[in-house]
Amino acid sequence: MEITRAAALLLLASSLQGQALRQQADRFGILVGGAVNPDNFSEAPYAAAFARELNMLEPENVMKFGPIHPAADRYDFTAGDRIVDFARKNGMKVRGHTLVWHSQVPSWVTSGNLGSEQLSAILHDHISTVMKHYAGQVFAWDVVNEAFSDSPPALRSTIWFDAPGIGFKGQGTQYIEQAFRWAHEADSSALLFYNDYSAEVVNAKSNAIYAMAKDFKARAVPLDGVGLQMHLSLNANLARLGENIQRFTALGLQVHITEMDVAIPVNPDGTPVDPAALQKQAQIYRDVASACLQYKGCSAMQTWGLTDRYSWIPGFSQGKNGLALPLDANYQHKPAYDAWVGAFKSSPLPVQSLTGSFELVSATLGTRLLSADSLASIFGEGLADTTQTGGITLQVTDSTGNARVASLIYVSPAQINFVIPADTSPGVATFKLSGASVLSGTGFIQTVAPSLFAANANGLGVAAATAVRIFLPTMLQSPVAVFQCGGVYGSCSAVPIDLGLDAPVYLTLFGTGIRGRSSLDAVRASIGGKPVPVLYAGAQGAFAALDQVNIALPLDLRGDGLVDVQLEIDGRVSNTVQIALQ
Ligand code: XIL
Repeated sequence: MEITRAAALLLLASSLQGQALRQQADRFGILVGGAVNPDNFSEAPYAAAFARELNMLEPENVMKFGPIHPAADRYDFTAGDRIVDFARKNGMKVRGHTLVWHSQVPSWVTSGNLGSEQLSAILHDHISTVMKHYAGQVFAWDVVNEAFSDSPPALRSTIWFDAPGIGFKGQGTQYIEQAFRWAHEADSSALLFYNDYSAEVVNAKSNAIYAMAKDFKARAVPLDGVGLQMHLSLNANLARLGENIQRFTALGLQVHITEMDVAIPVNPDGTPVDPAALQKQAQIYRDVASACLQYKGCSAMQTWGLTDRYSWIPGFSQGKNGLALPLDANYQHKPAYDAWVGAFKSSPLPVQSLTGSFELVSATLGTRLLSADSLASIFGEGLADTTQTGGITLQVTDSTGNARVASLIYVSPAQINFVIPADTSPGVATFKLSGASVLSGTGFIQTVAPSLFAANANGLGVAAATAVRIFLPTMLQSPVAVFQCGGVYGSCSAVPIDLGLDAPVYLTLFGTGIRGRSSLDAVRASIGGKPVPVLYAGAQGAFAALDQVNIALPLDLRGDGLVDVQLEIDGRVSNTVQIALQ
């Protein structure tokens, strides 16, 4: 039987113990971000909170058209560069916002009496210049922001679309497509997003965006993802959020939650009108985070700010709303923060497929068979971020549905050695490795058979064994290793055992699937096809999971050279290993 090969995507690994939001997110390979104003970096608690909690930053304003391109012949990258610099120093990604938007367009564009040809040239140059400046530093861009009107599927009338537009007036999403093509041409490695509000759940606006996205994907327009802004109120109905995320990700697009805040109606003194508001808000944060975590393609969650100290909500609502973010104005955790972190803690790490490789082999059987109670290895990449077995579990679910945790013998990023649980039933079993990553694969479990360790990793060749000569009636003497290896496994050779003296030599072989399988009577050993006496068959004792067999080497085997050793228990034979005799 062949071992089934399975492949698995390895998620970014990080500490399971992390308290800050970003450490929780790192376990899932998810980005958690916040909109940032670089002017506030000088406020130490602000800078500290962003660096501690988030692994992504997005400029709240400074990369928008007006601030970054204040005059026809002038770009100003200073503020954006400060964000990129802060992010680099703190191991964070930068998400760019935004290239094509109806708002925050400078007056030299809006009041310049420009025609479509000029606007087209301006927008093309703008997209190219900004994206090239940040190429390699901004990993994703909101290329087009809020292009759909509030009466979808109609597009919003804007200077870029139809008033007068860049040349695609009356041609639907054609101008959006043009912007994506220019963006791709400027930085082909950046992820390109369409971003909008009130399109979080399945509704008329998200239907319109979905139709555009589907069309773009079908015609290979370079669209990589959709941003759901998520500016919510306490009345948000998120029942169809998961469904919406699901359909976009099913197109092969990423979904980013880009601008989340949950506005709370406040009294003139700034306190919530509803005493339960902070709890209700927390529930919304929890629901959004949990929904995102259910879909592999939902790869970033960002809030529009981080602390209530700086938020666009009070200004936008003329003071009616506030308290929309996860940290309060003094950078303390709000219930919303705990709910966000809590959603990560209580969501299962997704079992992902399939890029890295995950291969199961038996450590004792050269034919790569797996059997209950035998030692096996998983070879792969990034299997563990540690060499400690603690914190990593391997669950084996057998063909009857029984799940058992396997004991781990050795752990490294490239190899995990473990014992297949003794009562694993034959048939196809699923192996699920959980630690910083979760991987899953299958293997075929044979009926239990004894197996002997070879010095070679593939289970063939020279026995892993020791030979001792016992001078009766005294103690054992002169242990003889019966294999020696060069620098690499596979180049092991047998060191001949000298049978020249008249004292008996006993050979200790190591293996698995030997203990508890049978009475000693049922254990048969042969050397060179000839039966030899078995003195012991059972647990090795010092080393959990290891079994051992002691056999006596009859003196009449003298001079036979390289011979095969094999075990048979209850009619089931082991693999064959070799020893050399003089
Ligand atoms: C807002 C900023 O937060 C404000 O500081 C600014 O005055 C106006 O823009 N959707 C978007 C964001 O895509 O760019 C907006 O940001 C909020 C709504």
